[in-house]
Formats: sequence, structure tokens, C-alpha cells
Amino acid sequence: MEALENLASKIRVCKLCDLSTKRKIAVPGEGPNTSKLFIVGEAPGRFEDEQGKPFVGMSGRFLNRYLELAGLNRSDTFVTNAVKCRPPNNRKPDEFEIITCRPYLIEQISLVKPKIILALGTSAASSIGMKFEHISEIRGRLMEVSLSSINLKVFVTYHPSFPMRFKKPRPIFLEDLKEVRRILNA
Ligand code: URA
Repeated sequence: MEALENLASKIRVCKLCDLSTKRKIAVPGEGPNTSKLFIVGEAPGRFEDEQGKPFVGMSGRFLNRYLELAGLNRSDTFVTNAVKCRPPNNRKPDEFEIITCRPYLIEQISLVKPKIILALGTSAASSIGMKFEHISEIRGRLMEVSLSSINLKVFVTYHPSFPMRFKKPRPIFLEDLKEVRRILNA
């Protein structure tokens, strides 16, 4: 869709925060404008910053594998991040960066109009305007969230880097993705 591509072009030259001086390539996100599922990650890592595409590094491969195990198809999904430019040294994006980048996310969501937003981890949940102390308060169920007067259905699960590093949360991560598939197919 032209509007999504125009937005991506704007993101690629964005200078709204300091991350723009450190990135190689901004990563707007990718996927069909008709996607029922809209995935939000945290921020680009090294490989994403080099290729300009979301989730192409190790956590991306892990995510792809688990999406497939859950019966979800990444090629039918819009995939983006809370923050479109890589924070240096793989640190987490800070609150200012998340808030500054949020209008891009809102515009992408308004254009794609997905059925469900899958927020991966705390930065993604914060970028959608969710308030929480710990991810356990919001993980694993469908929630209604109002963001900039748009009503969204949001499902929060772990960022894939967590179950990638540790075995214990893997069954929960898979069950969450399967639940998302069930909701999408309902
Ligand atoms: N981690 C993220 O949150 N997003 C990416 O695009 C890659 C790694």
C-alpha cells in the first residue's frame, strides 16, 4: 500500500531522536497491509540495523521457528518494533525514545487495521500505552487497549530473546503464540 510505503520512507530519514545519529539503517517494519496479526518487537539489533528489516537476526530466527510451531505464518503478518532505530550496544530503548517513535507505530496500526496486536516484551507493551510493574501482570491474555482513541486488541507475551536464552519459558511462549492463532481463527 502506498501510504505504508510513504510512511516507511519517512521513518528511514527520521531525525526525531538521537538514535538517528547512531543507526546504519532505520527499520520501519514489513508485511502485508492486510495482515490480521501485527507483531511489535522492541528495537532493531545489529543485523536488523545492517539490513533494514525487522527480526532477521538470532531472535528473529527463534521467533520464526516458534511462529511456525504455533501454526502462524510470518509472511501473513506485519512485523515492526516499538523503536525503529537500533539503540547502541543493544541497550533497551528508553521511555523518551519509545514515546518519540510511538506516532509511527500508531500510524502503521491505523493503516493495517489488524485484528490482534502481539506485543513481544515490555518495550512493545509500553509503546502501546500499557501500564504495568511486571510483564506477568499483562502476559498471556487478550486485552483491550485504547491508544490515541483507537481501540486495540493486544496480546502480550515474552520478547523472544528470553525463551531463546532460557529453556523454562519456552512452553509458555509457544502456548501464548498458539492462543493467538486460536483467537485469530475464531
Ligand atoms: N529484537 C527486536 O525486538 N526486534 C528486532 O527487529 C530484532 C530483535
